[in-house]
Amino acid sequence: MIKVGLIGAGGMGNVHTMKYRQMPNVDLRFFDRSTEHAAAFAAKHGVQSVGDVSELIDWADVVDVCLPTDMHLETAEVLLRAGKGVLMEKPMAFDLDQCRHLIRLQDSTGGWVMPLHVVRFFPEFKKAAQVISEGSLGRIATLRTRRGGLFPKGSDGWFRDFRRSGGVLLDLCMHDFDWMRWVNGEVRRVLSRSLAFTREGDLPGDYALTILEFENGAIGHVEGTWLDPGGFRTTIEVCGDQGQLEHDSRLTKSLVTNSTTGSASESPVSGGDDPYFVQLSSALAAWEARETPPVTSRDGFAAVAISRAAMASAASGDWVSVESL
Ligand SMILES: NC(=O)c1ccc[n+]([C@@H]2O[C@H](COP(=O)([O-])OP(=O)(O)OC[C@H]3O[C@@H](n4cnc5c(N)ncnc54)[C@H](O)[C@@H]3O)[C@@H](O)[C@H]2O)c1
Repeated sequence: MIKVGLIGAGGMGNVHTMKYRQMPNVDLRFFDRSTEHAAAFAAKHGVQSVGDVSELIDWADVVDVCLPTDMHLETAEVLLRAGKGVLMEKPMAFDLDQCRHLIRLQDSTGGWVMPLHVVRFFPEFKKAAQVISEGSLGRIATLRTRRGGLFPKGSDGWFRDFRRSGGVLLDLCMHDFDWMRWVNGEVRRVLSRSLAFTREGDLPGDYALTILEFENGAIGHVEGTWLDPGGFRTTIEVCGDQGQLEHDSRLTKSLVTNSTTGSASESPVSGGDDPYFVQLSSALAAWEARETPPVTSRDGFAAVAISRAAMASAASGDWVSVESL
């Protein structure tokens, strides 16, 4: 049995709990600072609520941090000092100084940290990554993604405070920045335009469009929106010199590959593909075997570095180089 402690029983805590409840090797307890909310959550999931965060940390082997982004670092610090396995909802930490601090602490304590970049575990994104890495599309020239829906609410409206969430560039587009880096390598510099970083006042949502210049010469386009009332949607389009691949989560046949040898349409989602389940179960398996996690804290840093460069570009209007560790 792995004793998993969950901190933060909000939107993501709810999703993770449903997945842990399907794992026979997991004993789950949780802490949320809202006692009223914790009581309702415990009743809904039949999971034990712990009244104090230190009690949860003492008990757990692995702790899953599902707190608002600006609280990630302080919690990760306590967990690493206590020698716990650490699962961090994305983004791993709020800015690059925080990410560097976390990695230094991980290295000095010999700790184990996995940032939860769930998009890598979504069947279409995983399959598309495989198609690209096998070389079926040839040399990659362009990668384009779109992600978004309406403004997320969060427990106390924290997503709307861009000083806590970072807006779409940190909270949402980070998923695609990470995926593109995973499939196509390092990003040299970015140019971005965003509502959150170019306007003052109370916005009805947020929107950003970023161009990425990769070290291998490819061009990326990442669009993120919290202004789409049509429901949450993701798209991918990747073009290489031997073929093209596309995905639209609103279509049934959600992955289409066109190459010089023909076209293929697939719906690669099945019950066993649930990305959150696969993400969390593979994280726990790696922790149990003391193996390198499927997504590392260096990956967590690199994704935040692209987001932060995009945020700086949106604020200045200029191209911004992506920082390395
Ligand atoms: N991977 C994804 O697809 C995805 C989607 C949404 C959110 N997220 C990330 O997950 C994290 C959490 O987001 P969310 O949507 O679940 O937020 P949320 O506001 O719904 O939930 C946060 C929970 O933390 C609790 N909380 C706040 N401060 C606390 C504290 N000090 N101690 C204990 N509990 C505390 C709140 O009461 C609330 O229940 C964020 O970093 C967010 O970016 C990831």
